[in-house]
Amino acid sequence: MVTGTGHRSHGGRPSRLSSAAWLYVAVVVVSVLAVLGQALGADPDLDGPVSQAWTMLVLALLFLICDSAPTTLASRQSAWSPSSSATLAAVVLLGPVGALVVGATSLVSVRRGLDLTQRLFNASMYGLSAYAAGEAYLALGGHVGRPVYQSFPGIIGPFAVAAVVHVFINHGLLWGMLMLVPAAEPGQPASALQRHLPMLLASDLGYATLGLLIAALWSVGGAFAAVLVLVPLFVARWAIGQFAAQERAYAATMAALCQAVETKDCYTRGHSERVSRGSAMIAREVGMRSGRVEAIRYAGMLHDVGKLGVPTTVLQKSGALTEEEYAAIQLHPMRGLAIVREIGFLDEALAGIMHHHERIDGHGYPMGLAGDEIPEFARVIAVADAFDAMTSNRSYRGARSVEEAIADLRKWSGTQFDPALVDAFVAALRREGWEQPPSAAVPPADDGVAAQDHDDPTAPLRVVESW
Ligand SMILES: [Fe+2]
Repeated sequence: MVTGTGHRSHGGRPSRLSSAAWLYVAVVVVSVLAVLGQALGADPDLDGPVSQAWTMLVLALLFLICDSAPTTLASRQSAWSPSSSATLAAVVLLGPVGALVVGATSLVSVRRGLDLTQRLFNASMYGLSAYAAGEAYLALGGHVGRPVYQSFPGIIGPFAVAAVVHVFINHGLLWGMLMLVPAAEPGQPASALQRHLPMLLASDLGYATLGLLIAALWSVGGAFAAVLVLVPLFVARWAIGQFAAQERAYAATMAALCQAVETKDCYTRGHSERVSRGSAMIAREVGMRSGRVEAIRYAGMLHDVGKLGVPTTVLQKSGALTEEEYAAIQLHPMRGLAIVREIGFLDEALAGIMHHHERIDGHGYPMGLAGDEIPEFARVIAVADAFDAMTSNRSYRGARSVEEAIADLRKWSGTQFDPALVDAFVAALRREGWEQPPSAAVPPADDGVAAQDHDDPTAPLRVVESW
């Protein structure tokens, strides 16, 4: 239970806000002002909060200390701080209006790079989250004031619901904002935040319990409770920051390796990214849990990293291959495994990289595995890999249409591909669509360029006959 709670705050650039985003900010700000106005109208003297001015001041300071030192998340468009421990403690000690005021102090947060619009949005978002949490706490019979021994365990239910309300309104309002703000970094996968949302929600809910701990400690230690909890709060902040930094390091590692492969084999530009996307579509369609979907995303990105170990002349050769050259290409899954096997976070992705050219009928390489002997990741990547090869321009032909490629996947379903995964991919394609790479000038097919591609089942590699 000794965990913190978190906020994520908006950090996009206001100069790029669309009119819809401006309207959204205005609605959030007006909403918090309306809530405050209504509360003042109902209790013009604000007896409760004002009589607790010292408590409010200390909690506001605690909130500001946390809010002024957020840690940037993987998407860089949002940041996390454990500041909602202070607002949730205020829910218990001060009630909804006091919690709103504590949250709204984000307006004067000591954070560089925030302009007035961002400050207004963050303050309103925090104020609304805290107020709604306070109302939920009261509605469920929560008592405002310092908890005493007898308050437990009765206080736990109302507080838990208040924490859930707080976290979901915070995330919901921020989510709405991020939907209206363009990605801060070109090339940054827009789904990064989406992918980590369940983890962030779970950790926020876990850390939320620290708010109750602050309130309970207040009964014995007064304002000193706030000082005591600063240490675990900042440990929580550090841990989330480490996770985000690790995520960014993973992404950079992937990008560097993919860039290396595509530099060596330039006609497959963007292929890794698309195979990654297609593999994830199949994985979601067959119901893989989010951790495996993430792993298969990595596997798709890196499936051809072993091409780094194949001579460039062989990769780019347009004529038929010698036995040795053919063997060199067939070695690329093993070389890929050798290159990335020490990267700890890849786990199951390694099997996908090593076996992505196995065939269901056992005629693939490097091991000649058949059916269920082939790791599921490899069977998934094989489908997405072939599909992207067929729907991309190649030196010997133009891109085939999605429907033609689906027909070819079905044609080799059961011999080269796992039929269940082909069905899953087709279902996902029908629902989500597919963005083919942009067309490029394609040379005529009869100019002497051999039609061969180790990824394209319609153009298998050709080997010089030897005697
Ligand atoms: Fe490959």
